Amino acid sequence: MKINEKRLLNNLRALREFTDTPGMGVTRFSYGAQDNKAREYILKRAEGVGCSISVDPLRNIRIGLPQNIPGRKTVMAGSHVDTVRNGGWLDGIYGVCGALEAMETLSEGYSDGIPLFNYEMVIFAEEEGSNFGSTMTGSKFISGKYGEEDLDSLRREDGKSLRQVLENLPQRYEDRYLSGNLSDIAHTRWDFSKIKTMLELHIEQGPILDREGLSLGIVESIFGMRVIEVTLTGVGNHAGATPMSERYDAMCAAAESVLEAESVVRGDSDRRTVVTVGRMEVYPNCSNVIPERVVFTLEIRDKDQSKIDGFMETVKEKIRDIARKRGVGCLMYEHSKSAPLRLSDRLISSMKKAALEKSLSFKVMDSGAVHDACMVAEHADTGMIFVPSINGRSHVPQEDTGERELLSGAQFLLDTVISEIEN
Ligand code: GLV
Ligand code: MN
Ligand code: MN
Repeated sequence: MKINEKRLLNNLRALREFTDTPGMGVTRFSYGAQDNKAREYILKRAEGVGCSISVDPLRNIRIGLPQNIPGRKTVMAGSHVDTVRNGGWLDGIYGVCGALEAMETLSEGYSDGIPLFNYEMVIFAEEEGSNFGSTMTGSKFISGKYGEEDLDSLRREDGKSLRQVLENLPQRYEDRYLSGNLSDIAHTRWDFSKIKTMLELHIEQGPILDREGLSLGIVESIFGMRVIEVTLTGVGNHAGATPMSERYDAMCAAAESVLEAESVVRGDSDRRTVVTVGRMEVYPNCSNVIPERVVFTLEIRDKDQSKIDGFMETVKEKIRDIARKRGVGCLMYEHSKSAPLRLSDRLISSMKKAALEKSLSFKVMDSGAVHDACMVAEHADTGMIFVPSINGRSHVPQEDTGERELLSGAQFLLDTVISEIEN
C-alpha cells in the first residue's frame, strides 16, 4: 500500500497555519485556540473516514478505524499537536499527520476489500510542557505516572492549575467526543493489555541523520531527564547608588550558577550529557534595579540515569556554594523527570530488516529529546522512526525536513503498521 503523498503534504502545510505567531514559527500551546483548530482539522478528516473517536478529560484523543474488531489487540501510531513558543512546523504534528495518513490509506485499502483491522491513531495533549512546564503531561496520565494530585500541583505561569484550565476550557470542537470526567481521572489510564504496538514517527531534532546523509533513524534509546527550578533571592537596591562591595545581586549568582553547571557537564567523559537553563525570570526586571530574585529552570539529560543523578547532585551543590559565597538565598525543587529507556528490541530488529529490504539509508540511534512514546514503552512494545532535521535545527522556526524524507518516513510508518497488524 502506498501513502497519498499529496494529501500528507497538504495536511502538513494546512496545519502549519495554525499558529499564534505567523511568520515567527509555530506557537500552538495545548488547550489554546490554535490547538483547537488543528485538532478540529484532524478530527474532520477522521470523521470523513468514519472513524470512532474518543477524547479523555486531559484531551488525549484516540481515533480508531471503523473496521476495528473489539477484543483484538490494537496497533497504534501518533504523537502531539502542541509546540513550544516560536517552535517549528514538524515537531509532533509530523507524527500525527503520518498516523493520519496511515489511517486514511488503510481505510481506502479496506474499501478495496483488503481486510486490515485494529489500527488506532493517538494525539497526546501537552507534550511540550509549554503551559505547565512538564513534558509528556497527557501521556503521563494515560500511563499512570500522573494522577489526581497532579491536576492541582501542575501550574501555569498565571498560577492556574491544570484542573482549573481543563474545567474552564472554552467550547471546543472535540467536546462532542469527550468521555469521562476530571473527578475520575484514574479512568484516563489506558488498558495496555489491549495494545500490541505503539509507533511514533518524528523528526530527529538533532544533527546526526542530516550530517550523515541518511534518510531514516530507528530509535534504540530515549534519554531521560531531570528538571529542577532554582530560586535565588538577594537584596534589591539602586543600581547606581549601591557600591559593588555592598551588593547581594541575585542575577550575578544566577549567571555564575549557569556557567558552573555548563562547566560541570562539559567535563562529561563521553560528551553526551546535556544541561540547559532555558527559562529565567528576573525580578523586578528593571535596568536600574539590582535584581532581587531570579528564578530559573535547569535540566540535565542523558541515557544513563546514574549520570543524570550524579551531575544533578554536583550542580546543586555548586549552586548552593555560589549562593552561600554571595550571601544570596537559594531554594531548589524537583520540577519534573522522566527515566531513560530502551525501545522494543523486537520492533528495532523488524524495522531494521524492513529498512534493509527497502534499501533505505538508515541508522539505529538514540533520541536526545523525550517523546510521548516513552510513556507507552514501559507497558507495550514501542518503536520510534526518525527523519532528518535540516542542519539539526528544532524547537525554532527554522525547523525543517526535506520533502523526500518526510514522505519516505511516513511510508515507512505505514509499512511498519501493516507489518504489525499482519504479524
Ligand atoms: C520535548 O520536545 C523535549 O524533549 O523537551
Ligand atoms: Mn515532539
Ligand atoms: Mn518538542
